[in-house]
Amino acid sequence: MINHAILKPAITSTVAKLNELFGAAPAVAVVLGSGWAGAVSLVQNAKHLSYTELPAFPQPKVEGHVNEVVVGTIGAQRVVMLRGRAHTYESGDCTGMAGALRSLKAWGVQVLLQTNASGSLRSHMPPGSLMLISDHINAPQRSPLVGEPGSERFVDMSCAYDLELRQHAKKTAQAQNLKLGEGVYCWALGPQFETPAEIRMFAAWGADAVGMSTVPETILARHAGLRVMGLALMTNMAAGLSAEALTHALTLQQAQLSGERAASFLGAVVAGLAELPSLQAGA
Ligand code: HPA
Repeated sequence: MINHAILKPAITSTVAKLNELFGAAPAVAVVLGSGWAGAVSLVQNAKHLSYTELPAFPQPKVEGHVNEVVVGTIGAQRVVMLRGRAHTYESGDCTGMAGALRSLKAWGVQVLLQTNASGSLRSHMPPGSLMLISDHINAPQRSPLVGEPGSERFVDMSCAYDLELRQHAKKTAQAQNLKLGEGVYCWALGPQFETPAEIRMFAAWGADAVGMSTVPETILARHAGLRVMGLALMTNMAAGLSAEALTHALTLQQAQLSGERAASFLGAVVAGLAELPSLQAGA
């Protein structure tokens, strides 16, 4: 459960820090998941700030991991990139990104573009494929909003992944001649990979991809009033769907192989947002 007595002042000082260092907020924030980190190199006039300077952000537990925000422009679009997210499997706590996302919203960010690495449940999306998230399944049925006050906690999730942003992603893929799948992302708590029986169940439920992130952040972001888009990079066929045993190393290896293509598509999506009329001009 979120401790507001601690989080509220942390958000206030985080927003002050962001304003002081970067000025007004960009309209677009990107969470970089595994395989997507290459997108950082596309940011022009980039300024970096460690999460350790932002009290509402998740504090890195493993030294040597890059946990920072990067603010700059891609094309004509200003953007803030988040390198590093808190995963529920690290602590059991699914509220780890609440402070970061609420700070972004309070700063003035409008759109949260989430990226992740996923296992594919569909043969038409082999490893290396990109999938636009159309909807999600919260398989663990955990919510970061448990204990939140007020009626805003009853968040409408009937169109959690913004239609206009999804159309924008599809148009960008077409313009780049890039095959972009679209489907339902299923959150599995992890950190263990799924069993083949679980994957068969998720497929029967209508899931197209499975991963260990994104869903708590989407819930928090919708609660905060951010518009959400999600892109998943398939790093492997899900458990039982290929002869290969699943390892973290395998997923990282595939993430690296496809990382450049994923990053360049992400860059094009972000740059194109500058022309989206529904986003505030100049941000
Ligand atoms: N399952 C869960 N998370 C993942 C997978 C997977 O197969 N691949 C990459 N992240």
